[in-house]
Amino acid sequence: MKVVIAGLGTVGRGLLKALSKKKSELWRAYEFSPKVVAAVKSDGAFLDENGLDPASVVSSLDGRGYEEHSAWVSGYTALEAIRDLDFDVLVEATPTNVESGEPGLSHILTALEREKDIVTSNKGPLVIAFEKLMEAARERGRILRYEATVGGAMPVFSLVEKCLRGNKITAIKGILNGTTNYILTRMTYERVPFDIALKEAQELGYAEANPSFDIEGIDAACKLVILANAIMGIRAKLSDVEIVGITRITPEAIELAREDGYLIKHVAQIEEGVLEVSLRLVDEKSPLAVGGTLNVVSVSTDLAGEFTVIGRGAGEETVSAVLNDLIDIWLERRRALAR
Ligand code: HSE
Repeated sequence: MKVVIAGLGTVGRGLLKALSKKKSELWRAYEFSPKVVAAVKSDGAFLDENGLDPASVVSSLDGRGYEEHSAWVSGYTALEAIRDLDFDVLVEATPTNVESGEPGLSHILTALEREKDIVTSNKGPLVIAFEKLMEAARERGRILRYEATVGGAMPVFSLVEKCLRGNKITAIKGILNGTTNYILTRMTYERVPFDIALKEAQELGYAEANPSFDIEGIDAACKLVILANAIMGIRAKLSDVEIVGITRITPEAIELAREDGYLIKHVAQIEEGVLEVSLRLVDEKSPLAVGGTLNVVSVSTDLAGEFTVIGRGAGEETVSAVLNDLIDIWLERRRALAR
């Protein structure tokens, strides 16, 4: 299976690392031996139609001498790779843009036009055009997977699609942004001032390039929009979400809540068709009372009751979800060939 990776940030680079490190395990377990024919960043691409050596690409990127790599082609773009190269699956891991969805949206649509399968960790295209993308994939009989877009490494969509068949999902509640959860946790337990806690979250590499997307609740709202569309069949847009950020929280409010055994959490919720991101009092013993950069999603169902997933919502762990999606596509393609 030939793969194009668009975007070499934490996810793109992490995927190359995992493919290199797990080469023999992936072959043993799934006879999966993908060839990465292009790995593209904003200023050029590593290209090899016979498959790049992922370890050498990663080490050249880590050493900053990547322009010297024999496969490096300066100025080559992801769109060129998607239009012109011979490949099977696009991994779209360019930065999220929730205003236009670009460049990820054009990358995915172009790849679908060329009948390629897709794995995306980029939220932007799904927030802007969920239905259009699903329709384009359906029309062409292609697979579009996006587990990494919500809750990073946490399996949410796969779990619901594969393990809760026949259930009706009645509500979803969760903490979908690691940066705000980190800030609130630091303010609650260490009395760290808001600005310092935000800086720490930025240093951990969790915050968005523009951290106001985190602290104003927009990132969490984007994830809620994807959950609503994908799991509950609600055709919601970002403008349908009632959003309150965490910028007005005071240490006094946090302290008062704690005296009564509550935490103030930034909770995202879909209930009775209403999408909301807001500050809520959460019982210290509630499954939603997760600390630090953790994410949590609680899903209410008619047959299975409520269940909760807790995990790493960002960072290199996100590669786990991308790799699982990629293997899923490989297994599906093998099944299709066998039919
Ligand atoms: N800025 C996001 C967060 C990254 O803090 O959760 C993952 O989407």
